[in-house]
Amino acid sequence: MIELKIVDLRSDTVTKPSPEMWEMLRSLENSNIGDDVEGEDPTVNELEEKAAKIIGKEASLFVTSGTQGNLVSLLSLTKPGDEILLEELSHIYKNEVGSAARIGGLMVRTYPSLKGIPRFDQLQKLIRDKEDIHEPPTTLFSIENTHNYHGGVIIQPERIKDMRDFSKKNDLKLHLDGARIFNASVGLKVPVTEFTKYVDSVMFCLSKGLSCPVGSIVAGSKDFITNARRYRKMLGGGMRQAGIIASFGLIALEQNWIKRLEEDHKNAKQFAEGIESYDLPIKVHKPETNIVIVELLKNSRIFKIITELGKEGIRSFNISKEKIRFVTHYGIDEDDIQYSIQKIGKVLSNFLSK
Ligand SMILES: Cc1ncc(COP(=O)(O)O)c(C=O)c1O
Repeated sequence: MIELKIVDLRSDTVTKPSPEMWEMLRSLENSNIGDDVEGEDPTVNELEEKAAKIIGKEASLFVTSGTQGNLVSLLSLTKPGDEILLEELSHIYKNEVGSAARIGGLMVRTYPSLKGIPRFDQLQKLIRDKEDIHEPPTTLFSIENTHNYHGGVIIQPERIKDMRDFSKKNDLKLHLDGARIFNASVGLKVPVTEFTKYVDSVMFCLSKGLSCPVGSIVAGSKDFITNARRYRKMLGGGMRQAGIIASFGLIALEQNWIKRLEEDHKNAKQFAEGIESYDLPIKVHKPETNIVIVELLKNSRIFKIITELGKEGIRSFNISKEKIRFVTHYGIDEDDIQYSIQKIGKVLSNFLSK
């Protein structure tokens, strides 16, 4: 029986560790691990120190997931009853189970944007009057970079500076959901600190483009991290001999897996060009990083299309009723790209040419 070739383009979260990561894990000894809740795990401590340095903040904290990292950040920078500003298609707003409200007791107000960048005159109107006892105070503004639902687009450092200025003017903390901030850095070829220097807190994921199986990092000032450590414990994220999983992150940062993201971006570009070459009623959004959005201009049978793609071995997700998202990552090579272009062309032609 011929096995069906699978090209999994659903997300960069499906990545598996590299041989070097497994090697590092095998070489771990008991002396490399300890009780991290007590701050005694040398591998976690090393990862946190290294991560803080790379991201340009005083301190950092290893957390279980991006979702936990975002929530820990919000809890650390706000009080229950505050109002926070989230972009209307942001991951925190759409996909984190309403935890800001449910757990943080926060009022959430969404703001519209052009690819993650708001209009400040519109945003200003959302800021509450702190003197008015009837209103909850607006205390935090959150941004996402790269922006997932906008197709992995990059918010330029200058725009983040504008956001910092806006936040300062309105006495807001600025949080960056930087699950894929290294994709932004590699995509623009500017140091990651150019993006992070303007924000109070940043979360980035080890478990996406950096190919680690588990974990994210939250970073900011020392005081912020002291607070964040307490909230991580509250959320059940205090892990004991966590060095075992942190070792994957350490190797990703030490061996500069960040640079490898260039390959994902190149593959995404090639993929987009291949799909665009089909004369079909689709719009292929030009990728800036590792995410390609294919928009169906006429067809509403997106779920059927995704199922058919799956039968051909091409895995993908839809992010709306018209848009299919394809993500390149470690484990996807040029052959996979060519193969998937061909299979996707076949399926889309079947559905869209009729
Ligand atoms: C932009 C963004 N933020 C946060 C997260 C949450 O990360 P995790 O899946 O590790 O909770 C994701 C996950 O896909 C994401 O895309």
